[in-house]
Amino acid sequence: MELKFTEEQLMMRNMVRDFAKTEIEPFIDRMEQGEFPREIIRKMGELGLMGITVPEEYGGSGMDFTSYVLAINELSKVSAVVGVILSVHTSVGTNPILYFGNEEQKNKYIPKLATGEYLGAFCLTEPSAGSDAGALKTKAVKKDDHYVLNGSKVFITNGGEADVNIVFASTDSSQGSKGITAFIVEKDTPGFIVGKDEEKMGLHGSRTVQLTFEDMKIPVANRLGEEGDGFKIAMANLNTGRIGIATQALGIAEAAFEAAIAYSKERIQFGKPIAANQGVGFKLADMGTAVEAAKLLVYRAASLRDQGLPCGKEASMAKLFASKTAVEVAIEAVQVFGGYGYTEDYPVERYFRDAKVTEIYEGTSEIQRIVISKHITN
Ligand code: CAA
Repeated sequence: MELKFTEEQLMMRNMVRDFAKTEIEPFIDRMEQGEFPREIIRKMGELGLMGITVPEEYGGSGMDFTSYVLAINELSKVSAVVGVILSVHTSVGTNPILYFGNEEQKNKYIPKLATGEYLGAFCLTEPSAGSDAGALKTKAVKKDDHYVLNGSKVFITNGGEADVNIVFASTDSSQGSKGITAFIVEKDTPGFIVGKDEEKMGLHGSRTVQLTFEDMKIPVANRLGEEGDGFKIAMANLNTGRIGIATQALGIAEAAFEAAIAYSKERIQFGKPIAANQGVGFKLADMGTAVEAAKLLVYRAASLRDQGLPCGKEASMAKLFASKTAVEVAIEAVQVFGGYGYTEDYPVERYFRDAKVTEIYEGTSEIQRIVISKHITN
């Protein structure tokens, strides 16, 4: 099966490819120094990339999910930071409102999210509720026309930068995950405290923060769905969110693979390019095979999503395999580069550092295996 894209999808891919080369590549050093790419996000908003799948009636580009995946793929080949910012903003920052919000909420928030005026974040994880997301402790207590939110969140991608936060809190702790409710929380709400900005192994330039909510008053009008709908809203959006992270991982793997091919053809040792050695050639063969397999899983999950078919299992499979591929291919790329691969003079050490988290966030590889095995055995 050859992957075939429509004219429109290819135009999107080429546009993002050019944008990544001309606008993002020159910005990488600044991101590596820790700068959040606000300017890039603004330009992506102008190009319609912050709302690729958002219907035109809400100010988006009205394109399909495959176009979104093509965009994340191209961005992540150049910068996994920009890839994850867009993935989180779209899949778990914007889509919960688009799919579970009422008309008033959609009209208020979606056009600003779709144009990049607002950035989105997803606040589920807590210090003692990571993989066991249903055990979260943040509380929302209803008082008249508002809820009072108290609690802490950790590892929030885009956190502190995002204007709109989808926050999950317990409204009935006796109900466990069925007592979780989702809220739209604006950054400037009194009691919204941005805490530690994590110093990470990779993805420098992406913001990952702790958030604390102290007696934060959230209007009832900002509740997404009904009380108790929160866990299902989180899971439903993670289903497709995981395709975004799988795509980010694919982009990193492709970048590392392409760098390894180019270097192995250029680097002369013992009088010939190192690619001519079977030891290197076999490495490249394995890397290329894994990249192709990851690509098929990613684009199949996206295609199912576009056809409106169930894709939870395929999304988890794509994330599980693409993230493993990103880590393995990046490690092998460093090996092909030898000593140079271990320096900051070449990008492969960055690919290596950026790859690892794709096996952790939006559900660890172990969680993906739980999800996949449940689908297979149920
Ligand atoms: N889609 C829709 N509904 C789902 C679902 C899914 N994927 N998974 C579970 N549900 C529903 C179930 O059907 C069930 O509802 P019913 O009782 O009505 O049938 C309900 O949710 C509870 O299901 P489980 O009993 O299976 O839930 P659980 O507590 O055992 O947890 C889990 C399941 C899959 C382990 C889940 O907790 C999970 O996904 N954990 C990982 C959390 C995660 O991915 N966090 C990522 C944070 S975001 C992030 O990382 C962003 C970033 O920075 C990049």
